[in-house]
Amino acid sequence: MSRKLKLGVLISGRGSNLQSLIDATQDDSFPAEIVMVISNVPDVAGLDRSAKANIPTTVINHQDFDDREPFEDVLHDALSEAGVKLVCLAGFMRILTDGFVSRWLDKMINIHPSLLPSFKGLHTHERAIEAGVRFSGCTIHFVRPEMDDGPIIAQATVPIRQDDTPDALAARVLVEEHKIYPLAVRMIAEGRISITGSQVTIKGAVNPDSAVINPA
Ligand code: GRF
Repeated sequence: MSRKLKLGVLISGRGSNLQSLIDATQDDSFPAEIVMVISNVPDVAGLDRSAKANIPTTVINHQDFDDREPFEDVLHDALSEAGVKLVCLAGFMRILTDGFVSRWLDKMINIHPSLLPSFKGLHTHERAIEAGVRFSGCTIHFVRPEMDDGPIIAQATVPIRQDDTPDALAARVLVEEHKIYPLAVRMIAEGRISITGSQVTIKGAVNPDSAVINPA
């Protein structure tokens, strides 16, 4: 039996972060495997990606349920039955209830396209440009009941350019998202991560020692 960490990936759309995890897990030495992909939206591009990779894939359409709880019960059962030990939210566009979050406490991570805790919520790139900050980026964090909140595992920064547009910035941030998601999963699967309050400690983490200044 495989000793790899079993991942369940939840998506709602394009699935490019799912693809970065599929690509990472295709390397035999990667310590995690995707055992289930679930979309809450039918016919999205991400579903083709997992089907192509022969990963068990299912749609649990939230519109088929009257309330959040019954939807989440089905989601929970599908993940549990597949043996999922870590849930990876990858562009999953449903707010999860406190009940679901506590069932997967410290076992569910999310990717967000900003340097949290700045710019929680939607339209992050537009808002970062509008605010005039010199850097944006992306964050992988453990999920807590408050949206886009929780202990931070990894971040990547991207300088904002003088003439930036939300689309151009989004594209450059996305490149980094695809690097840090597999990195975070690897570190968790290797058992190197511990959480104390809002802080994550990573065994053997190497931190860069130089600052990045923008404008250079
Ligand atoms: C990404 O930008 C992610 O950070 C955000 O939603 C987007 C999903 O993109 N949570 P994709 O579906 O992974 O391509």
